[in-house]
Amino acid sequence: MSATRNLSAFSTDQTLIAPSILAADFSCLGKDVATVEKDGAELLHIDIMDAHFVPNLSMGPGVVQCIRPHSDLLFDVHLMQTDPKDYVEPFAKAGADHITFHTECGNPIDMVIRKILDLGMTAGLSVKPGTPIEDVFPYLDQLAMVLIMTVEPGFGGQSFMEDMLPKITRLRNEIIRRKLAVHIEVDGGINAETSMLCREAGANAIVAGTSIFRAPEGTAEAIRLIRG
Ligand code: DX5
Ligand code: ZN
Repeated sequence: MSATRNLSAFSTDQTLIAPSILAADFSCLGKDVATVEKDGAELLHIDIMDAHFVPNLSMGPGVVQCIRPHSDLLFDVHLMQTDPKDYVEPFAKAGADHITFHTECGNPIDMVIRKILDLGMTAGLSVKPGTPIEDVFPYLDQLAMVLIMTVEPGFGGQSFMEDMLPKITRLRNEIIRRKLAVHIEVDGGINAETSMLCREAGANAIVAGTSIFRAPEGTAEAIRLIRG
């Protein structure tokens, strides 16, 4: 299975599917990851939660290191934590290809981006639902991706917040105006229907956990429908 592990090598016109392993079966993570890779996903979305920035715990670099030999997918690591500056290097060593962190994390944003880029990864910034998308605009020329949360971060299986759609469009317009190549990713409550709304609004990278890993129709069909 050949897959590119450089996010900047993908066109921002291309729809990228990023299954979130938060909804996978952790007792057979390697197998679940191999399945979505075979089904044609472009990215693997890995949610890191610290029980501080968000009220939940998920996994650390050790888990990422364990699944790395099982997949050639681009590892899209989403840090939902305070002090991401201290975790960029451990996740790089564990096999991350791209790291997204939050504008609300409490660290100097420029410094964290620099750390990510210096380790040879691409960088992304994310905003919670209550944060204006304009907060990422000063950093756009250093980013490969912006992640717009479409639920409050912390848990899988929540309902999509439709009022996030205008943020996607405002960001897409800004990216076009400045002639940049930045992917717009959405995360939370995405299924075939909400994926279409996000793609129409200007998003091209689609995270989905529950609607892929717990799809009654199977992961391959779920990915096909979410891709649209
Ligand atoms: C939520 C995480 C998401 C989550 C999405 O805080 O960032 O990536 O896994 O799960 P679903 O697709 O089930 O809403
Ligand atoms: Zn996520």
